Amino acid sequence: TPLKQQREDLTSFQVIAHRGASGHAPESTLAAYELAHRWGVDYLELDAQLSADGEVVLFHDDTLERTSDGEGHIHDYTLAELKTLDTGTWFHEAHPERTEEEYRGAQILTLDELFDHFGHTTRYYIETKSPDLNPGLEEALVERLEAYDMIEQGRVLVQSFDQESLLKVRTANPHVPLIQLLWYSPSEQDSATLTEWNDTTPGADSIRDEDFERIAEYAVGIGTNAAYRGHEVIDADFVRQAQTHGLSVHVYTINGQDEMKRLMALGVDGLFTDYPDRLLELVSE
Ligand code: G3P
Ligand code: CA
Repeated sequence: TPLKQQREDLTSFQVIAHRGASGHAPESTLAAYELAHRWGVDYLELDAQLSADGEVVLFHDDTLERTSDGEGHIHDYTLAELKTLDTGTWFHEAHPERTEEEYRGAQILTLDELFDHFGHTTRYYIETKSPDLNPGLEEALVERLEAYDMIEQGRVLVQSFDQESLLKVRTANPHVPLIQLLWYSPSEQDSATLTEWNDTTPGADSIRDEDFERIAEYAVGIGTNAAYRGHEVIDADFVRQAQTHGLSVHVYTINGQDEMKRLMALGVDGLFTDYPDRLLELVSE
């Protein structure tokens, strides 16, 4: 079955460059992806959204202010308008100690531009971001994946916090391996655990097996946070339990080597990091 093959492709530990090497260069820019690619990561992580004229673009926030010189919602602008923005200078100003002059003036990337640049020489870990604000994103994304032969070549994972969004991707093409993102917050009273993927998620101590079972019906793995309100929430039992259900466990977003080591010792299957150089150093030890 496709799910079985997809799981077999994911058995080794995965180094996932979160928005590129975004600790070193402005997130989601070609410079950040080039660094990560040069260092030999397994996956380039990216957040996909739609411009007003339906182009798939790489941008994390729903609004432009934090990481560009634009303002307002990204979805309100055409690609031509988005291309006039500078997504590098903010990093220069925020992190003068670890920037390069050349990062100024970086442009928002389209998914096609990223694929044209790196082709099949890497893998892509693509998040369908804010599905409610990006209607049609899943279909547009799958069309681009097919156009660049990314699915058959095993070059892609699609991730989302939104279960419905993942199921739309599966409907568009059942061969895309899917990762269910979770915001695991076991101490929350109202949204006890494994929130954001299903409104009917039950309480913290009783749910894990059936939740994992349901996720395993459509996904090859989960992407989860490691800590919540300063407490570690991922332990060896959690990891083993997910893996018992056939799910890979990837954890976001881990930047310190001590925490990387802790999670690797728990047997997680991959880490998202802004500093892939730090993780690659540990992997090669
Ligand atoms: O995709 C994993 C992680 O990136 C999810 O959080 O907000 O960084 O997209 P965020
Ligand atoms: Ca993401």
